[in-house]
Amino acid sequence: APILKESYSNYFRIGAAVNERTLHSASELLKKQFNSLTAENEMKPEMLQPEEGVFSFEKSDRIVQFAQDHNMAVRGHTLVWHNQMPEWMFHDTTGTTIDRQRLLERMKSHIQTVVKRYAGKVDCWDVVNEAIADESSQFLRASKWLDIVGEDFIEKAFFFAHEADPTASLFYNDYNESEPVKRDKIFRLVKSLIEKEVPIHGVGMQAHWNIHLPTIDNIRRAIELYASLGLQVQITEMDVSVFDWEDRRTDLKQPTDEMKELQAERFEAFFKVFREYREVITSVTFWGAADDYTWLSDFPVRGRKNWPFLFDENHRPKEALTTVTSF
Ligand code: XIL
Repeated sequence: APILKESYSNYFRIGAAVNERTLHSASELLKKQFNSLTAENEMKPEMLQPEEGVFSFEKSDRIVQFAQDHNMAVRGHTLVWHNQMPEWMFHDTTGTTIDRQRLLERMKSHIQTVVKRYAGKVDCWDVVNEAIADESSQFLRASKWLDIVGEDFIEKAFFFAHEADPTASLFYNDYNESEPVKRDKIFRLVKSLIEKEVPIHGVGMQAHWNIHLPTIDNIRRAIELYASLGLQVQITEMDVSVFDWEDRRTDLKQPTDEMKELQAERFEAFFKVFREYREVITSVTFWGAADDYTWLSDFPVRGRKNWPFLFDENHRPKEALTTVTSF
């Protein structure tokens, strides 16, 4: 049977998101098929700094150690986001919202502690995650960061990260990244950062896709647009849901034959595009490893099973693995 990371050794890294549990339950699959890891939650601010000044690195250290032991890279995820931030971050002990200066100090301290700890072990970071609004009428997403610091919270985060590890590749990461309106806003943001000489090296396309959307054409245009800025592109959180976004059915025990076929075709087409852009795409990471565990089994419909990967619930290759490795 084909081995994913070997098929792509001349193209880009092949990564998987892992957590405390899957690091063990999928360890054989990870070692064999992948050469990069991302922590699904274990490097998010709420996990790393649950109380101000009190860092908790045990879980993320274990993921990094596993990667080191098995010769894998690590993508760091994530430093600044509107979700999964610790409670304390935005206010003082009396509950009053802190001011810009104080929040920037906290941002700097968080970023630099984390990035320095993993310097030389984590070579790319999602510095800012999902800062763009989905609504076409709005540019940046409403958030505490935007409220308290202002629009320049984004560039500040990149400068802090770069100062902590000048050798790390720094990414802006987002979802719906191939949808034209959002794509153009991501482009506009990143272009303005580059014009301000902000140390940014890549755009992360999360790639939470499904068996019908986005179109190959829109994916292609997104990659081209981001690459036109002279940046790397990484596919950072790929999964291919067997359900359309509007499909809220909960009664399926297995994917239908039609879903499986479509999924294999879609994976084939995606990887064909990725190979065409091998000069710009430096890594393709799945948001999991095999169908026995995926965050999609709780999102967007709670408790609904999904089967979004190249390996099945028993870690065996699916038809889709054959399509992406036959070229
Ligand atoms: C998700 C994790 O997979 C879940 O376990 C967690 O409950 C919520 O976050 N975009 C991102 C990821 O950048 O960090 C998210 O991960 C999925 C969407």
